[in-house]
Amino acid sequence: MLMERFYNRRPRRLRANETIRSLVRETTLDVSDFVYPLFITYGENLKAPISSMPGVYRFSIDKVLDEIKDCIDLGIKAFILFGIPEHKDEEGSDTWCDSGVIQRSLDAIKQKFPEAYLITDVCFCEYTSHGHCGVILNNDVDNDLTLENLKKQVVSHAKHGADMVAPSGMMDNMIIAIREALDGAGFTKIPIMAYSAKYASKFYGPFRDAADSTPSFGDRRTYQMDPANKKEAILEMDIDFEQGADIIMVKPALAYLDIIHIAKERYNIPIAAYNVSGEYSMVKAAHKFGSINGVDVMNEMLMSIKRAGADIIITYFAKEYVLQKLEL
Ligand code: PBG
Repeated sequence: MLMERFYNRRPRRLRANETIRSLVRETTLDVSDFVYPLFITYGENLKAPISSMPGVYRFSIDKVLDEIKDCIDLGIKAFILFGIPEHKDEEGSDTWCDSGVIQRSLDAIKQKFPEAYLITDVCFCEYTSHGHCGVILNNDVDNDLTLENLKKQVVSHAKHGADMVAPSGMMDNMIIAIREALDGAGFTKIPIMAYSAKYASKFYGPFRDAADSTPSFGDRRTYQMDPANKKEAILEMDIDFEQGADIIMVKPALAYLDIIHIAKERYNIPIAAYNVSGEYSMVKAAHKFGSINGVDVMNEMLMSIKRAGADIIITYFAKEYVLQKLEL
């Protein structure tokens, strides 16, 4: 009998009004879940819009301080910093230089806002003349030469006050190399958020405009992962977990919710997801096109990333989420 077997189960009872819906809601979002990306460059008095990402800007250091003040007032306290240096070179030496754009940013921000939690994106693509994420040898990024430069970069970031480092270059063994370098320099307290499962994604298009980091030849498929692969993502995450990553990241987020879910189930450490530039731009574009309500879709998108298993969401929407209003 149907009634006996299903006990007259009627899930709609718990959807009758907003009060009961909120009592049974399984996932909630909070501003404390978010990390807000900031693009910082040389010069003064600069707040340059990025046309493919309405609401996102490239700031000079003096201007990024205003932005951080606005964010802190909204309750956003964690930031990931991307630098665009004045001079690029073959190896991206600005990344380990005391006068580098990130080093000067860390100094200035920490002096004014010691409570701001500053995560540095640790990579080379914005700093190299060729736009690749490391040292080029025989037309490809050389893994182990790049590790040597990564060590210099993280120690320099830590010296200038970074609270956490987030290596995004997908070099093999980057976590152990960075952990050893930090510990060797006395920075045992600085956590590593590993971009562990980072795919060679076309969703990064707008970011590369923002960060001026498009490779001048080839693409990133010799180091970032093939979007077709799931087992390989588990291998990458296992390696980073074993090497001591404090947080594992999956990137992009929306097209890779299955990977976020696996990460959440598999590791007893926090999982981060990067809601990338293309995901952000699509919402803005579709809202302008009139086909969706961008605020509602933003809320649903962020919720889906949290529900899939992300404890931390890196998102350009952080401010707009708090304001519940899009800048178009
Ligand atoms: C590499 C880096 C990239 C992003 C974050 N870190 C770009 C890339 O791999 O080409 C992309 C972020 C986004 O699309 O929002 N430094």
